[in-house]
Amino acid sequence: LNISLIGVPMDLGQNRRGVDMGPSAIRYAGVVERLEEIGHSVTDEGDIQIAAAEKTAPTDTNLRNLKEVTDASTTLANKIHDVMENGQFPLILGGDHSIAIGTLAGLGDRYENLGVIWYDAHADLNTGDTSPSGNIHGMPLAVSIGLGHEQLVNIRGFAPKIKPENVVIIGARSIDPGERELIKEKGIKVFTMHDIDKLGMTEVMNKAMWYLKDREVDGVHLSLDLDGIDPIYTPGVGTPVPGGISYRESHLAMEMLYSSDMITSAEFVEVNPILDEKNKTADVAVALMGSLFGEKLL
Ligand code: ARG
Ligand code: MN
Ligand code: MN
Ligand code: MN
Repeated sequence: LNISLIGVPMDLGQNRRGVDMGPSAIRYAGVVERLEEIGHSVTDEGDIQIAAAEKTAPTDTNLRNLKEVTDASTTLANKIHDVMENGQFPLILGGDHSIAIGTLAGLGDRYENLGVIWYDAHADLNTGDTSPSGNIHGMPLAVSIGLGHEQLVNIRGFAPKIKPENVVIIGARSIDPGERELIKEKGIKVFTMHDIDKLGMTEVMNKAMWYLKDREVDGVHLSLDLDGIDPIYTPGVGTPVPGGISYRESHLAMEMLYSSDMITSAEFVEVNPILDEKNKTADVAVALMGSLFGEKLL
């Protein structure tokens, strides 16, 4: 593959500092070398410009840093649109999960029927009305299916970016009341930790991939929040939830996605080096990218 690496040093979608250093931590963990070793060609496009947390404007909504997140999402969406035009595979490094708003806005007009795998402890399906926190990183999936603040929903001038029936959430174990309602109302496919415990990761991934194939998707974006994995393996995240997906299960999931040849773009988000232990979380992110992009033991 010709991979374009795009860093998004975004920390305005939540209220803990440090996640803006995620892209640096992932680069320091050797992402470029790791992917080149497999045989891919990697272009590091550098970082998207993000407003400084000290300089954000007050907003009249309950969405923290709405203007700055909107601006950054627009810049990211345009950048992704451009690298796709050049036939590159977009690999986005976060940054908090609000960046997925821009990612899906950039991908949305390239695909008629894009599938999304949302690997996460959370559903990120809140709107301004249901959010318990006002943090936009809890809203990107809702925004992308067309729900929430119109400024976010209409980035790049079209909405929705994806269909709710084309979304598969994997690893969920912290779902807010409004999100639960939305999942039922829209029929969003969710494999919770209960499903992974009961069925095992192999069956969950097979079901997830068959579900998207049956939907006849023309591309699949992987949005991987490092808090989907158990915090014993990835402690450097802002909203850890115990009882998560294991390190081995996550490698297996990535290897299965590689074998399926379905994935057409990916993002790894919520790496926060300030909360981490010796860059462990970025190291896990890069190891998982190895599996996702075809690393072989033998
Ligand atoms: N559901 C909570 C909220 O809306 C937590 C969201 C966490 N999201 C994330 N991308 N880590 O605030
Ligand atoms: Mn276009
Ligand atoms: Mn999460
Ligand atoms: Mn998330």
